[in-house]
Amino acid sequence: MSDTQTRDAWGSKIGLILAAAGNAIGIGNLLRFPGKAADNGGGAFMIPYVVCLLLFGLPMMWVAWSIGRHGGAFGHGSLPGMFHRMWRWKGAKYVGVLGLALPMVFVLYYTYIEAWCLGYAWFSFSGDYLQSADRTVHMSSYFNEFLGDAPTSSYFSGLGAALAAMGVTLVLNVWVLSRGVAKGIEVLAKIAIPLLFIFCIALVVRIFTLEAKADTAIAGLNFLWTPDVTKLSDFQVWMEAAGQIFFTLSIGFGSLECYASYLKKDDDIALTGLSTAATNEFVEIIFGSMIAIPAAALFYGVDRVSEVAGSTFGLGMISIPEVLREFPGAEIFGGIWFLLLFFAAFTSSVAVAQPVMAFFQDEFKVSRAKAALWLAGLWGVGVIPVIVFFKYGYLDELDFWSGTMGLVVLALIEAVLFAWIFGIEKGWAELTRGAMVQVPGLFRVIVKYVTPVALIVILVGWGWDAISTGKLLPTPKRTVAIAEPHRFAGTLSATEFGEDLSPEDQRKKTVVEAFEKELDEAAETAGGDGSIRATVKLGADGGVSVSDVSAEGCVSAFTDAARLSEYLISRGTAYKEVGNEAALAREVPLVIDVRHKAPYIWMARAEIGAFVLIFLWMIRSSFRRHEQNEGAAA
Ligand code: PHE
Repeated sequence: MSDTQTRDAWGSKIGLILAAAGNAIGIGNLLRFPGKAADNGGGAFMIPYVVCLLLFGLPMMWVAWSIGRHGGAFGHGSLPGMFHRMWRWKGAKYVGVLGLALPMVFVLYYTYIEAWCLGYAWFSFSGDYLQSADRTVHMSSYFNEFLGDAPTSSYFSGLGAALAAMGVTLVLNVWVLSRGVAKGIEVLAKIAIPLLFIFCIALVVRIFTLEAKADTAIAGLNFLWTPDVTKLSDFQVWMEAAGQIFFTLSIGFGSLECYASYLKKDDDIALTGLSTAATNEFVEIIFGSMIAIPAAALFYGVDRVSEVAGSTFGLGMISIPEVLREFPGAEIFGGIWFLLLFFAAFTSSVAVAQPVMAFFQDEFKVSRAKAALWLAGLWGVGVIPVIVFFKYGYLDELDFWSGTMGLVVLALIEAVLFAWIFGIEKGWAELTRGAMVQVPGLFRVIVKYVTPVALIVILVGWGWDAISTGKLLPTPKRTVAIAEPHRFAGTLSATEFGEDLSPEDQRKKTVVEAFEKELDEAAETAGGDGSIRATVKLGADGGVSVSDVSAEGCVSAFTDAARLSEYLISRGTAYKEVGNEAALAREVPLVIDVRHKAPYIWMARAEIGAFVLIFLWMIRSSFRRHEQNEGAAA
């Protein structure tokens, strides 16, 4: 009964600092950051990144801690209650629904990624993806099969392994949360954060002492740290940098606010906020750039870093293990890499889920155990479609709305609430009360004018991008892959069509687009999936010959070998060995998969909508009860 009466509190200052660092340090630092940086031209990314850190990263960090401690003084650990206390408007608490629905959606897929890392730590220590004389492990097929996203089943059949990893991850998370803030989250952080530093150092030492196969590790660092001023005019790079700052600092989710709510009214937040940002940036900039990118440069060469790292998950789950397994101690270092990601994610996932825990405990006055049970129910049910429909882009869809768009929307609301509605005077007083460090006065101007305007610009930019590129209208997904991957050490590649094409390339592009459009239309008309299989002889010179074509499902009409070979030639399909640029002549069984995504994308959107409605309804019923109680007491 006691924990329904008094709110949780942090056990110690150091525990709080570690927990807050654990909140911010996550997959964002070790995988998303190097991936985004490499994808946006390496050094070109760093200038906008630092500008965004100062312009809204740090200011919003302080805003979050202020909103949180203020709400905590009234016994509220989640945004509905916090907004209710700062904003004299009946609807304020309903706006706070974003501080429940967004983290709820986010935690579903974030813990699924966490689960991959746990699974892969196991696969590493047990040597499951090591090569042997009679077995080639094709890492990208391995990953896709693990997720049920491949037409083949050479290494995994079905989703059993993924579901098991998710089950364990969910139980661990709920267990920590059910132990409460001091005995659960704080204890976890005290173990995980030191481990994380040890793992990072071990990997950095490992990578910088390996013999270079392509370029040196230092060359990878140079790539990341050579500024490219020409990219400063590229709006896309700015938006990516801003998005990364929000994501990595855990801003715009109500998560830091919730941690702050367990402070006392006069406890320092200025220095705590600063140290959270500083620790996070240390790990991001130092370890985020000294592990993944140098490893990729070492093995694939600097020229291919952008390509290899372009897909964030590809970098972490395919390329890094591929590199590490080439050297002695593969089991250990591969295992350390994935355990590192797992622990980084674990201390973040409990942080994302805690606002929902706090909402149940504070607003419904239920015990911690009961709150954890409710949460586990939503989590367990909500994550099932993420796993089962992964191959239809379900996870990406949730990520777009919560991890990209949602957090910027919520940050904008918080900035305006803090500086304009609550008022910058009161806000400033709140932030500086008990402060152990002097907050620069410039902060007031930035939060009041610069941050909101910059956030609006970003939102308009993203909205425009989403609409103009047709992102909001789901299109079928196509993949071209090698069937029977365990027999092939290499991968397929295709040439990208850049700008300013020669007439010949323009012709090829037209062929490719026409064929793909037909496949997409077939999937849309049939409302289902399909696949084409063929034996394909790929020449080192780009020549292709196709035999034994068969097709099923929505594309069953596509069995014209001549047409298929024209498509593959125009697309520049080639077979390359891992770590080897040159195309090799090879006969491969090829499979082209076409998936009708639309129903699942709409299902993902409906799931987000459902969470919004559930929480709106909960806010309404809990606040009704408060009002009745207050009425009765008066
Ligand atoms: N900051 C975490 C990361 O870098 C993600 C996160 C976002 C955690 C929002 C909590 C809240 O991975």
